[in-house]
Amino acid sequence: MAERKKYKRVLLKLSGEALKGNSDYGICPDTINDIARQIAEVKATGIEMCLVIGGGNIFRGIAGATKGMDRSNADYMGMLATIMNAIAMQDALEKIGVHTRILSAIEVKEVCEPYIRRRAVRHLEKGRVVIFAGGTGNPYFTTDTAACLRAMEADCEVILKATNVEGVYDSDPRKNKDAKFFEKLSYLDVLNQGLKVMDATAVSLCMDNELPMIVFNLKKDGNIKKVIMGEKVGTVVG
Ligand code: GTP
Repeated sequence: MAERKKYKRVLLKLSGEALKGNSDYGICPDTINDIARQIAEVKATGIEMCLVIGGGNIFRGIAGATKGMDRSNADYMGMLATIMNAIAMQDALEKIGVHTRILSAIEVKEVCEPYIRRRAVRHLEKGRVVIFAGGTGNPYFTTDTAACLRAMEADCEVILKATNVEGVYDSDPRKNKDAKFFEKLSYLDVLNQGLKVMDATAVSLCMDNELPMIVFNLKKDGNIKKVIMGEKVGTVVG
């Protein structure tokens, strides 16, 4: 009997750092191939899937700005980094037979398609994994905000936010062994308590548009699939 998944269409948000594995920066081939394998497994259930990948493994706009760069210039470099990560993920996915399309908010026509909402939806309906690249195309917005925006535009039911820990805690569980884990939170809790889930712009956007988010540990093999099957994994924010 076919497995019953909870969702029809989801957006998976990966940080750029998720691709670097144990390296200090860049893309670790084993890590990206492993994430691609997990995505392929999930895709095989018939779910429609979008991806947003950050760029922090290559360049972080905010970090550039704190070192004296103009913030807009630094953010544009970060957005270009997300396009490189998208191409790497497309390569890893297509090698294992998952059809993908990259749609970028910044036009780089020679390497990927421009972002056109209706086209993205059509690609999803045709079973392709759609990778949204180039952030929102605007400086001062994070790739988390881009993920929320694209999830809403593409009518996704949920954002799956991949992290290195089990979900949301009241303090960093890697530094504080008594950190309290939350199974469920409202967006207002996240904002009021200053919990580090996503930046406030992204959180407000989800709150205003009632888009739920599940924060979960990407490093546990099979977790993406568990989340889409509706198993209790991570922290639900909504
Ligand atoms: P359908 O029209 O639904 O069949 O989608 P499709 O993406 O297969 O058709 P299309 O003919 O638009 O694209 C064929 C290939 O060209 C796909 O791999 C697209 O990602 C790619 N492609 C389409 N538009 C662009 C573009 O503007 N730039 C780049 N670099 N590739 C593009």
